[in-house]
Parts: sequence; C-alpha cells; structure tokens
Amino acid sequence: MDWGMKNRLSHIIDPKDGRTLMLAVDHGYFMGPTTGLEKMDQMVNPLLPYADTLMLTRGALRNYVSPHTRIPIVLRVSGGTSIVGPELLREGIIADMEDAIRLNVAGVAFSILVGATFERDTLLPFARVIDQAERYGIPVVAVTAVGKDMGKDARYLGLASRMAAEFGAHIVKTYYCPEFEKVVESCPVPIVIAGGKKQPEKDALQMAYDALQAGAIGVDMGRNIFQSEDPVAMVKAVRAIVHEAATPAEAYQKFQKEKGA
Ligand code: R5P
Repeated sequence: MDWGMKNRLSHIIDPKDGRTLMLAVDHGYFMGPTTGLEKMDQMVNPLLPYADTLMLTRGALRNYVSPHTRIPIVLRVSGGTSIVGPELLREGIIADMEDAIRLNVAGVAFSILVGATFERDTLLPFARVIDQAERYGIPVVAVTAVGKDMGKDARYLGLASRMAAEFGAHIVKTYYCPEFEKVVESCPVPIVIAGGKKQPEKDALQMAYDALQAGAIGVDMGRNIFQSEDPVAMVKAVRAIVHEAATPAEAYQKFQKEKGA
C-alpha cells in the first residue's frame, strides 16, 4: 500500500484508535430530498465537528458544503436507479475518478447488490472503480446494499462483505445483524455498519455499541443521526460510543443531557 492510500485511509479511520464515525448524507442520489436533508447545508454543517468523514454525492458536495471545510470526504460514485423505479440498486458508475480527485476526496463509495438477478451489473463496475482508485491511491468503501426482499443475516452479509473485500475494497460497509462477529471474522478489511431506518435513539446507540463489540471499526450512519429529534445531540452520543468507549447507557445519558442544548 503506497503513502497516498495510507494517508487517505488515516483521514477516514482515526489512527489514534482505529475507529471512525462516518456521517452518511448521500441518500439523495436515489431518494431525492430525504426527510432531514431537504436543506442539507443547514442540517450537515452543525454535525461536521463531531464526524470523522462525510459521505455524499458530488452534487451535494458542490452545492451544500463549503470548500473551506476540513472534513474528509467519501464520495458516492455509484447510482443509476431510484426508490420509485423498477430496479432499485441496479447501480453503475456515476462519477469519474478524475472528478473525485478534483474534489480532493479521501475515499469513494460504491454499492454492490450481491444476490440480485443483476448482481453482475453492480459487481463488474465495482471492480473497475477499484482499479481506477488504486491507480491514484484512493480507498474504496464497498456498500453491501440489501434489496427489499433479502434477509440481513450473518450468512448473507458475510458473503457480500467477503466478496467486496476479495474484489479489493479497502473498507466494507454493511448492516448489523445477529452473530455479527462472524461477518467481521471472515472479512479481511475493516467493517463499518450502516444505521438503516430511523429507530429510537436508545436502540440505535445500542446497535452501534454491539457492532463495535463484535469487531466493527465504526459506523457510517445517516438517518439515525439526521432524523433524530436532536441531530447534534445524537452525533455526540454516537461519537461517545465510537471514540470514547461509552456504554449504550452512558451514550444515551449524553444524548438526553445534550438534547435541546
Ligand atoms: C445507502 O446506500 C446509503 O449509502 C446510505 O448512506 C447508508 O445506507 C447509510 O445511511 P443510513 O444510516 O441512513 O442507513
């Protein structure tokens, strides 16, 4: 691994503790103006001091985020289908590596849909993105997307995560599930969990804690932060779990204390 790749990875994963709090606000690429992100700049800017990286599309980055920010960017480079279309997550490349470099990103993210009839259509461009990213020392975060009717169990997520790593991903983002340690143990690269649909703050904090206990290095969380009744309090509470060894109870206490502050 060359210096540039290592340096970019250390902008995503904090070298002090090997953990990361990635803030995911890329939902608009297939969901449009997602609840909480209608005015993305107003939502995201107050959260940035507590996140390690920001994951979003190039359009959102150019339109909603100041170029003077110091937050490392993970750029979504896959897409092509929408939540109202017939083939959700049949994604291809939507941004070139040259544009990612122009945007000075720390990494790129690409979704694969293992098990779908069109899985090959997502896996082959994923491999091309890794080739291009390797050329310039840019880490690739593989997002193991899950279709509406697919189970999120350790066997399936373990398969998808391992495949992503064997294709060459540098970080895998997947979903938390029972026996999550099996997913982590059989994946040779660091794993972060997605937050998934909004749940009560207490449950989301417990999930983040359980994932870390099982070996995940952090979270790439969106809706459970920006759709929280207090997004800043919630990102601080998630940070306490990820970087400050807080228990779920301590983190929830922090959320309650910070709420409305
Ligand atoms: C989905 O493919 C997107 O990458 C989301 O950013 C990701 O699922 C994380 O967001 P959330 O925590 O809302 O699930």
